[in-house]
Amino acid sequence: MEQRIETPAGIRVDQSNGLFQVSRKVFTDPEFLKLEHEKIFEKCWLYFGHDSELPERGSFLTRTVAGRDFIFSRDSAGEVHVLYNLCTHRGGRVCREKSGKASVFQCFYHGWVFGSDGALRLIPQEGAYPEGYKNDRERGLVPVPRLEQYRGFWFINLDANAISLFDYLAGAKPYLDNIADQSEVGMAIVPGAQAFQVDANWKLWHENGMDPFHVNTVHQTYFEYSTDVAKIGKERAQASGIATEVFDRKASAEEMMKGRYAALMQTATKMKLDLGNGHMAYDYPANHGRPFAQWHPSWDPKYKPELDQSFERLVARVGEERAKRIALYDHHVLIFPNLAIVDNHGIMIRTYFSTKPEEMLVQSWTLAPAEESKEIRRLRLYSYMDFLGPAGFGTPDDVEAIEAAQRGYKGAEDYDGWNDVSAGMLPADPSSFVRNGDEGRMRVFWSKWAEYMHA
Ligand code: FES
Ligand SMILES: [Fe+2]
Repeated sequence: MEQRIETPAGIRVDQSNGLFQVSRKVFTDPEFLKLEHEKIFEKCWLYFGHDSELPERGSFLTRTVAGRDFIFSRDSAGEVHVLYNLCTHRGGRVCREKSGKASVFQCFYHGWVFGSDGALRLIPQEGAYPEGYKNDRERGLVPVPRLEQYRGFWFINLDANAISLFDYLAGAKPYLDNIADQSEVGMAIVPGAQAFQVDANWKLWHENGMDPFHVNTVHQTYFEYSTDVAKIGKERAQASGIATEVFDRKASAEEMMKGRYAALMQTATKMKLDLGNGHMAYDYPANHGRPFAQWHPSWDPKYKPELDQSFERLVARVGEERAKRIALYDHHVLIFPNLAIVDNHGIMIRTYFSTKPEEMLVQSWTLAPAEESKEIRRLRLYSYMDFLGPAGFGTPDDVEAIEAAQRGYKGAEDYDGWNDVSAGMLPADPSSFVRNGDEGRMRVFWSKWAEYMHA
């Protein structure tokens, strides 16, 4: 008997037969995108920027989030603002610089001048207006309806009535804590960013970030490369008198994958899938070097003492159990709707947004402990770019996979195609790693997505 529950938002679920499907139209139909903008992006907390990007009073940058252009500024009193980058006179662009330091912004169109807190300071033709005209608060730059931060991560909300960011982040907060606590003085964005277009819908990137099944196939080249590097590195480490037995099981690509899956099994009870509010995460013991406090034979032994010391200091600060969790595990946390924070070969903060169904703008930054040495920073950036950079081993292969899927969805319009995200719903072998490494995280996302789309 047909037991499918069809939803108008493009998802169908058949719980008793372990089936969860997503219509391919949600990636191609402009009507879905229009609704997502209105019901998701205008309702949810969206990552905006990191506190370290405004290091001083007067620091500012311009950024596009949810298709809106904003100024992110720290005023002369130290207060942080997100202001629409749009002149209250006749809509000119107020700030045309990417970033810098300024006490005022002068609109490029007719020269109105605004303070870094958004207040209108000067109108060149002030005599043409009634007295005190510029002092009306309404003449100042418009602030975003809500702006809140958690541990240095600033988020905006276009809905003035939204719940607090603290409540919205729900179970994702400990993951942000584990990143913020990697520094004794404060985490900082490494200057520069990657911004690029991908010819695929924004949801495909979010899905890819929580998908354990693509890793073996899409990133095969990376595993071959890392096997070679680890082998050479092990010999080099042994020549320096460093014992490497602990790394042996991670020496080949095949073993690395077994190690990863074994790790998924071992962390069965600690594995977090659903963090609430559509957020999800997963972590597993890292089988590569981590630029924060875990050396690996694929890295030069000269880095080992400093990384070992970082680990010892972390233990002293947060205790051994939490220190191991922070330093020795890879962490992926996906915050609904469009933020991925990946802490593995470096720390990546990435957002994605579509203005057309078949393309997205991706923005990525990397975060590091402000106090780390130049040598470790260099190692970190190589490690980060090797895998997560736009020309690294990870990102281009992921882009190829999702762009190909997006191209294929055009054809799926001919026969009403549906994607399958059922893995792990009703596993034939309940002891399988699939229980933890399955597509449950995607179902967390899609269920919340449908909830917003129906609201
Ligand atoms: S539009 Fe900005 S000064 Fe006129
Ligand atoms: Fe990937």
